Amino acid sequence: MAEPREANAPAWEPYAGDLDGTTVIRLTLLERVQHIVLMTSFTVLIITGIPLLFPKLPMVHAFGGVFPIRTFVHRFAGATLAALAAFHVLYVLFSPEGRRDFGRMAPRWQDVKDFVHFLKFQLGRVNEPPPFGKFDPFEKIEYFAVVWGSAVMVATGFMLWFFEDTLRIFPFWVYQLVLMVHGYEALLAFLAIILWHLYNVHLKPGHHTTEQELRSFVAGKLAGFKVPVKVVFWPEMLPRNANGKILKTELKKVFATEPNA
Ligand code: HEM
Repeated sequence: MAEPREANAPAWEPYAGDLDGTTVIRLTLLERVQHIVLMTSFTVLIITGIPLLFPKLPMVHAFGGVFPIRTFVHRFAGATLAALAAFHVLYVLFSPEGRRDFGRMAPRWQDVKDFVHFLKFQLGRVNEPPPFGKFDPFEKIEYFAVVWGSAVMVATGFMLWFFEDTLRIFPFWVYQLVLMVHGYEALLAFLAIILWHLYNVHLKPGHHTTEQELRSFVAGKLAGFKVPVKVVFWPEMLPRNANGKILKTELKKVFATEPNA
């Protein structure tokens, strides 16, 4: 049985984007563009930065440890990441979509309850997983880790870039600390992307499914007349009352007006 949701849980709202029953647009165009810039600049920063941490490894030379324009490329990608971070702050503050999605991303007490519920589900103590909102607690942790990680990398990156100013203002040990933080935060970010993000987004079983797969799956288990004629992938939290019960009347209203549903 689902836990009652907090009164301040994100209110349910009809989905306003593209929804044709098989495809949902989860991120706005500007969010996708930001993601592509982040992905590209991060990859370049890893390729041009990590070799400095392990300069003695022979394989490092093969993937760019010593190529002559490494410094320039790393700084260019660093400046791109800094510009993206500034753009993202403006997007979140001033665009309606940015404000809306940041509101959904904000941590809530309900996330803690959902996490406990999720653990109980994993341990077989409850039958249903928690009714997560658009972003589950794991995605929220990941988002804020990227925000925090980018702030640290940009701040320390500029301090390394303009090292003469850094050394004029701070004692030498601060510079050494900055170098260490920049290097090991880079390693942490690299491992987090490879082990956590790429697994969750691309490899986790059950993460991707299609309408056809779902229909074939239930067709082997249900009487023919019960097999759904149509499957709709719904990107938002389903409308629920304070006790977590799905409001079927609200759902019916949406599907009555949704031409493709
Ligand atoms: C996720 C992003 C980043 C990663 C993974 C990364 C990675 C690294 C690594 C591993 C090092 C070597 C540290 C050492 O020698 O111990 C380094 C050095 C450096 N990084 Fe980054 N970095 C990132 C972002 C940035 C940014 C945003 C800037 C600039 C704004 C920047 C500027 C520098 C500079 C100036 C150095 C000193 C070496 C050089 O001149 O190329 N980095 N980076």
